Amino acid sequence: MSLVKLDNVVMEFELGTFLSKTRIRAVDRVSIDIGRGEIYGLVGESGSGKSTLGRVSLRLYKPTKGRVIFDGIDITDLPEGKLRKLRKRMQLIPQDPFSSINPLQTIGEALIEPLLVHVDISREEAIEKAKEILEEVGLTPAEEFLTRKPHQLSGGQLQRVAIARAMLLKPDYIVADEPTSNLDASIRASIVKLILEFQRRFNQALLFISHDIALVSLIASRIGVMYLGQLVEEGPAKSIIREPLHPYTKALISAIPLSEELGVERVVLKGEIGNIANPPKGCRLHPRCPFAMDICRREEPPMIEVTPGRKVKCWLYVKR
Ligand SMILES: Nc1ncnc2c1ncn2[C@@H]1O[C@H](COP(=O)(O)OP(=O)(O)OP(=O)(O)O)[C@@H](O)[C@H]1O
Ligand SMILES: [Mg+2]
Repeated sequence: MSLVKLDNVVMEFELGTFLSKTRIRAVDRVSIDIGRGEIYGLVGESGSGKSTLGRVSLRLYKPTKGRVIFDGIDITDLPEGKLRKLRKRMQLIPQDPFSSINPLQTIGEALIEPLLVHVDISREEAIEKAKEILEEVGLTPAEEFLTRKPHQLSGGQLQRVAIARAMLLKPDYIVADEPTSNLDASIRASIVKLILEFQRRFNQALLFISHDIALVSLIASRIGVMYLGQLVEEGPAKSIIREPLHPYTKALISAIPLSEELGVERVVLKGEIGNIANPPKGCRLHPRCPFAMDICRREEPPMIEVTPGRKVKCWLYVKR
């Protein structure tokens, strides 16, 4: 059974002023599920709705439509009071550690706060636990880091604090939202490794969000590809990388360095990602897609299961 299940989730945001309101649909009817101990990689261009979907899965956002199920419990409409009990089992490692940790708090305060909220322990015990986790994430000597403020840490060190805070309560579900995108290339691997170590140790379901399909293919067992708010392809990581079906996925893979030299089919999209406030009719990729047919301009393709577990939302694969 899946630990986290999103069923036909829609997330709309209202923008604008009192006089002129627009709604944008950042996530449009997406269903995914993640099993206990499973790493699910979510990829797609900037603005495709990955972070929004991750936040809905943690019920940091309440979806406009659709259901969010966690460990068999429908948490879509749960009030914050009831969600609090579940919150310690689901955690976010955010895209930007600088905005996730209160700049006025010391690292020690940032770490003991969730412990005091969720666990029945004394302040002294919480400090001991904070020290332990700092050592586990490689911030030693721990005592020294406890008293520092966020601005006294490097980006990589601060991301380690964010990981420590997410892992403190041994959650069952982690959303790692581009956890290395703001970091220097030289330390990215060590941050990913740290997240994977905890994932294995606690047998966590991990939603790993990234622009980088090559990185995701190395760590995830399954991959979902998003384009303009929709899931357009999903399947086992190995088969997505070896045999991408959706033209958008093909384009992502042909952008991996050396892919051309290795003989990977080259698919280049025209133009930029479309406007989410006014997405193209039919298939959302059609204005950019080199394979676009008439029907793609008129009708939205269904998500079809090509082989078990392998899904694609593209007219090229619909038998007509
Ligand atoms: N709280 C919000 N209020 C209004 N619009 C939002 C909000 N959060 C996201 N959006 C909009 O929803 C769309 C999807 O954003 P989201 O951050 O989910 O994309 P993303 O795939 O994570 O992009 P990136 O790779 O740049 O992080 C964007 O157009 C964004 O501007
Ligand atoms: Mg994002």
